[in-house]
Amino acid sequence: MALNLVMLGPPGAGKGTQAIRLAKSRGVPHISTGEILREAVQANTDLGRKAKAVIASGQLVSDEIMIGIVNDRLRKDDVRNGFLLDGFPRTVSQADALDNMLKDRQSPLVVIDLSVNDDELVRRLSTRRMCEDCGTVTGSLEGQPAIVCDRCGGGLKQRSDDQEEVVRERLVVYRQSTEPLIGYYEHRPTFRSIDGSQDEESVAALIGNAVDGATS
Ligand code: AP5
Ligand code: MG
Repeated sequence: MALNLVMLGPPGAGKGTQAIRLAKSRGVPHISTGEILREAVQANTDLGRKAKAVIASGQLVSDEIMIGIVNDRLRKDDVRNGFLLDGFPRTVSQADALDNMLKDRQSPLVVIDLSVNDDELVRRLSTRRMCEDCGTVTGSLEGQPAIVCDRCGGGLKQRSDDQEEVVRERLVVYRQSTEPLIGYYEHRPTFRSIDGSQDEESVAALIGNAVDGATS
């Protein structure tokens, strides 16, 4: 059966970390709207020029733009047997649009919500670094940001939106616009809430069990 999955959760909850693992283990494409936007900024496309300042201020790119991006992506051949969405939907309008995009699909939408307290989110984001060469994300080493990429040895940089004041703004925006999606989805039989504050392996195991339970 196809796996159609949305990973919900605040900034720093581990959506990307867990989505990459799960996409690999289940053989479905990982679609991160944040990554699509960061690539567009890097390539200085029309989209990138529109999104750059919005991302750096911690606000959301417009629903119209984001729904267009995901609608186009979900029409591609490689998602016929499922997908793993990370960072979309982020508003009730985006969730409504996603339901509409999926109305002809047989498999239900599985929704995994990762919850982590604010202090831990700020700690994780302030020490997160991304490899300039291969894009790998690394966390902290004994509380200190890593210095080189453990995958390829490349140099590391901080995301423009990971400075503390932007992180605080992203959390406010999350509470206002995205957290209401828990209420939107929680009554569905395929919704699962996971404690994302445990270590990466434990969270991966909880998600694996939740996905199996939600799809059996
Ligand atoms: P996006 O890239 O989606 O950012 P986000 O939602 O703020 O989430 P993050 O990527 O910061 O966190 P994550 O949950 O993926 O955590 P990660 O796994 O990296 O969006 C960026 C911006 O783009 C938005 O602010 C907005 O402007 C725009 N945008 C994107 N989508 C949009 C949409 N649909 N609509 C409108 N605008 C949109 O982990 C974080 C750190 O913690 C890492 O260092 C990691 O190594 C570490 N870590 C992970 N798991 C654990 C663990 N279990 N224990 C300890 N450390 C851990
Ligand atoms: Mg992410």
